[in-house]
Amino acid sequence: MPRSSIIANWKMNKLQAETAAFMDALAVETLPQQLSLGICPPFTSLPIVRAKLASVGPHLQLGAQNCADASAGAHTGEVSAAMLKDAGCSFVLIGHSERRSLYSESDKRIAAKLELALAQGMQAVFCIGETQEQRDAGETERVLRGQLQTGLSAEIRPTAATLLVAYEPVWAIGTGRTAAPEQVQEVLAIIRDELAILFGRPIAAEMSLLYGGSVKAENIASFAAVGADGALVGGASLQADSFAALARAYADAKGLS
Ligand code: PGA
Repeated sequence: MPRSSIIANWKMNKLQAETAAFMDALAVETLPQQLSLGICPPFTSLPIVRAKLASVGPHLQLGAQNCADASAGAHTGEVSAAMLKDAGCSFVLIGHSERRSLYSESDKRIAAKLELALAQGMQAVFCIGETQEQRDAGETERVLRGQLQTGLSAEIRPTAATLLVAYEPVWAIGTGRTAAPEQVQEVLAIIRDELAILFGRPIAAEMSLLYGGSVKAENIASFAAVGADGALVGGASLQADSFAALARAYADAKGLS
C-alpha cells in the first residue's frame, strides 16, 4: 500500500522568527503518527525547521521547494540538490506549476532536476497538472501523460520510496476551487497507468499519488475517499493549527492513528 503523506509547501512565506513560531506551535499539536508529514519552507528557513524537527517527531521530514538543474558551479542564485541534502532535506518538490509558469521551467530542466535530486538519495515529489484551458479543451489526459513521459525517464529507476507524484490542477492552486473528487479519481487512475507503462505495475502500484489545490481540513476526506495518498498543501499549511487539523482529518478518513 502506498505510504500516506501530507506535505506543506510554504512557497515564499515566513521569515525565520515566523518559522520558529510555527514549529513551536506544531510541537504541541496532536499529530497522527502513521502519517508521514513534510514541510517545505523557503531556503532561508531550512535551518530553523531542521533545528526543531525533533521537537515535533520522527515522522516529520524537511523538504525544499525547488533545486537547481546543475550539480555545481556558475549558476548564480541557484541551490543544488547536494546543498539541500547537506541542509537536512530528505525530499524536494520538482516541477511545481508556479516554477513551470512563473519561471518558465521546461520539461527538460525539470527532468534534470529530478535526476539530480534522486542521485543525491533524496525523495522527489514530482508535480504535474493541467490548466483550465487544457481541461476545457479535453486535453487533461494527454497533458498529464506528456508531463510524466518527459519528466520521468526510465533511466532514473525510481522506487515507490524515492518518487511521489502530486497531481495539482493549475486552476485549483490558491484559488479556493478544488477538483471534484471524481475528477481526482479519474486522473489518479491515468497517472498510475502511465507510471505502470514507464516503470512497471508493481512499482506504480506502490507509488504515493498526492492531490494538491486548495486542500484544507474540511475537504481532504473527499480526496482520501477517492484514493489520494495524501496532499500537497499551500495556504492551509501556513498555520500550525490548520496544518495539524488537516493531517488529523486525513488520518481519520483513512483510519490511521
Ligand atoms: P494551495 O497550494 O493549497 O494554496 O492551493 C497548493 C500548492 O501549490 O502546492
